[in-house]
Amino acid sequence: MSDPTQPTEVFRRDYRPYPFAVDRVDLDFELGEENTVVRSRIELRRTGDADAALFLDGEELELRSVRIDGNALDEGFYELGGEGLTLPHVPDEFVLELEVVNHPKANTQLSGLYTSGGMFCTQCEALGFRRITFFPDRPDVMTRFRVRMAADRGRFPMLLSNGNKVEQRSLPDGRHEAVWDDPFPKPSYLFALVAGDLGHVHGTFTTMGGREVDLYVWSEHDNVGRLGHALRCLRSAMVWDERVFGREYDLDLFNIVAVNDFNMGAMENKSLNVFNAARVLASAETATDDDFEIIDGVIAHEYFHNWTGNRVTCRDWFQLTLKEGLTVLRDQLYSADVTSDAVKRIDDVLMLRSFQFPEDAGPTAHPIRPESYIAMDNFYTATVYEKGAEVLRMIRALVGVDGFRRGMDLYFERHDGQAVTCDDFRAAMADANGIDLDQFERWYAQAGTPELTAAGTFDPDARTYTLQLTQSCPPTPGQADKEPFHMPVAVGLLGSDGRDLIETRVLELRERAQSFVVEGIREPPVPSLLRGFSAPVKLTAPLDDEQLAFLMAHDSDPFNRWEAGQVLYTRVALGLVDQIQAGEAEPQVPEMLVAAFGGLLGGGDVDPSLRAFAMGIPGERTLGNAMETVDPEAVHGARRLLARTLAAWLETELRAIYEREAPHGSYRYSPAEAGRRRLRNGCLGYLSALGRDDTTALCVAQLHAADNMTDEIAALRCLARLPGDACEEALAHFYTRWNEDPLVLDKWFSTQAGAQRDDALERVDDLLGHPDFDPRNPNRFRALVRTFSRNQPAFHRIDGEGYRWLADRVRQLDPLNPQVAARTAEAFAPWRRFDDARQALMRSQLERIAQRTGISKNLYEIVTRCLAD
Ligand code: TRP
Ligand code: ZN
Repeated sequence: MSDPTQPTEVFRRDYRPYPFAVDRVDLDFELGEENTVVRSRIELRRTGDADAALFLDGEELELRSVRIDGNALDEGFYELGGEGLTLPHVPDEFVLELEVVNHPKANTQLSGLYTSGGMFCTQCEALGFRRITFFPDRPDVMTRFRVRMAADRGRFPMLLSNGNKVEQRSLPDGRHEAVWDDPFPKPSYLFALVAGDLGHVHGTFTTMGGREVDLYVWSEHDNVGRLGHALRCLRSAMVWDERVFGREYDLDLFNIVAVNDFNMGAMENKSLNVFNAARVLASAETATDDDFEIIDGVIAHEYFHNWTGNRVTCRDWFQLTLKEGLTVLRDQLYSADVTSDAVKRIDDVLMLRSFQFPEDAGPTAHPIRPESYIAMDNFYTATVYEKGAEVLRMIRALVGVDGFRRGMDLYFERHDGQAVTCDDFRAAMADANGIDLDQFERWYAQAGTPELTAAGTFDPDARTYTLQLTQSCPPTPGQADKEPFHMPVAVGLLGSDGRDLIETRVLELRERAQSFVVEGIREPPVPSLLRGFSAPVKLTAPLDDEQLAFLMAHDSDPFNRWEAGQVLYTRVALGLVDQIQAGEAEPQVPEMLVAAFGGLLGGGDVDPSLRAFAMGIPGERTLGNAMETVDPEAVHGARRLLARTLAAWLETELRAIYEREAPHGSYRYSPAEAGRRRLRNGCLGYLSALGRDDTTALCVAQLHAADNMTDEIAALRCLARLPGDACEEALAHFYTRWNEDPLVLDKWFSTQAGAQRDDALERVDDLLGHPDFDPRNPNRFRALVRTFSRNQPAFHRIDGEGYRWLADRVRQLDPLNPQVAARTAEAFAPWRRFDDARQALMRSQLERIAQRTGISKNLYEIVTRCLAD
């Protein structure tokens, strides 16, 4: 047994191939909520050292028997340790039979086999299969699975697993059984089983090769009316992957199941995707436009994993970005195609900046291919996913869209059916395009967000514009010095009339400092740098406020139009922060911003979604990241002042848009309609910041008139941060209307937890005692607790009570659900970015968490990383 106070750390450099091949496995489940008996029959063949022992991972299992080639083994012939089962001496080729018992109902970790509502379901990624039975639970051991399961027929009429159903029959005592066979070898993390009383919607899809595929989306009966959107998204993702990447589905059946208790968004188990109910169920009344869009993206993401993740999988968990970065890139490209390139890009960059950049700048920073882990679950991060996707997007920018497709084709040609590494992917891209991607490996090996500085010189005589680019990367834990990155920098130059002087040029930066000369430039241009956010870096560009306003109005790259506005807002907001910190009685918003903002409101021909995003002031986390020391009160004050000032100056224009974009006819989800609602609700947000009776009345009216959740929750969010009766009445009204609906009730909890008001902490603390609060349900826990931890002014209260409250929640959840507890504790990670008083308060809460007796590996890893020097 390993020492539980010093959990073992696993290193990438220690990878060794498994010394046995598993030719097939037969699993047999006697499903019971208290006790489930799992019998396995595993065909093993030695491929490594003649004297290698057989080791099988296992966790919290009761072992009943071990047989080799039919003969029961006495206890002296195997060793049962904390981490698994070792058989020191085994033949070269043999059949191992095991019988174990596990306890689904007591499994509150939601990893392995567990119950959710009235159903059984599984979650095996990353290391959950070992909680079902002993097995080489590592992605490079790929096996054919055949699964038999038996359960009570009345309560569990649907029995699902991977692959095809080959048998189903009744058994005595009101039970029944089904047998499933998956013809594709797969690692154990892709195994899944679901048993329950489920309703469904059904559709079909004919693949490009003429295969007829049955598509089913399953949920509790009450929710079947909300499954249509998911089915439509699935079809659209299947069409897209054929058209864009030539990838065809490979079985006759594809199942998606919605479950209420789930640690993450969804899981790509072969042909049996399991989804968090919040990422599948959608109806106009209960889901927002954002929910509709996210669901589309997640359905696509899990479907795309069938090729990038399942057919070609990871050799070891350090390669996670091989499947996740790539699949995120694929779902981003898909969403951009079905909505809009610019809107999707802005959305993704907002995410990257508010979650990944802070991660890269803090104590849990890691490269997209980490070097070590204690709990693998902690590495399903914004870095591995979102930065991983950015790294591949840069390769795509370097090799072009067609070159990227060639590289993908070669990758599948070489590696179909294999468990491979990030290096294999890079090699396929390089070989297919005849280019050198060696330096690119640094993006996999080095953590931290690079800083890019640009300076330009115009030479009227030579008619050249010279751009000097320099890059550096701040130190991160364990990495003091960084080598320069290879990155594409997309550049445009604007003339004084606002037109492009050149076509967008992709400069390849490889050195720490490099100059690029553009010829044939006859006037001093305004540079538009890093168009489309061509590299995941922090850019310092040589632009004054007027030039930014000019780019905001004229840049032909819609992303950079938005970006120019963000840089300008950030400058202004930080200027206000300085004034607030200096004790200025009436901090001033520069008037030029009003003109720029007014220009946006007037730009009637621009996509409403883009206008809505352009109106958005950078979030408090993003602003905090731009400061030497984060001052949450001043940041909050500056943002609020900025919103109020703009609203006051431009009230007429905001009201005009609000009225013009009023809904015509009943709600329908479409990207265009969603854009109009986004713009209108953006205006409502500004107007409500004025806090007058008539602006509050506007919110109340919208809350009651809305025929859809987008408008309803937008109004509720505005009201939830206002003092007085209007807020209380709105919350009570919403609760009465929706308290039977768990997903909508989550929105009620999160609206209150996220509301920026002085009594936010007292309110969330009251909500802990609400009869509908259940910390065992991750969606509910996140709605209240994680949302609160992102409510900057409330969480960072100077008396430290926000920190204490969060630490209490983490300590209480850890014994029930360590994965979610560890994620929640990450709210403390940026503690060194704050003033001394807050640092001391946060540190003491981290220490309190670290002292919890019986602390989980997951939480231990996060807090020790946070506290390390
Ligand atoms: N592979 C899943 C995805 O990205 C992620 C996932 C789902 C997961 N459930 C999990 C990761 C549980 C860790 C633990 O689509
Ligand atoms: Zn994924």
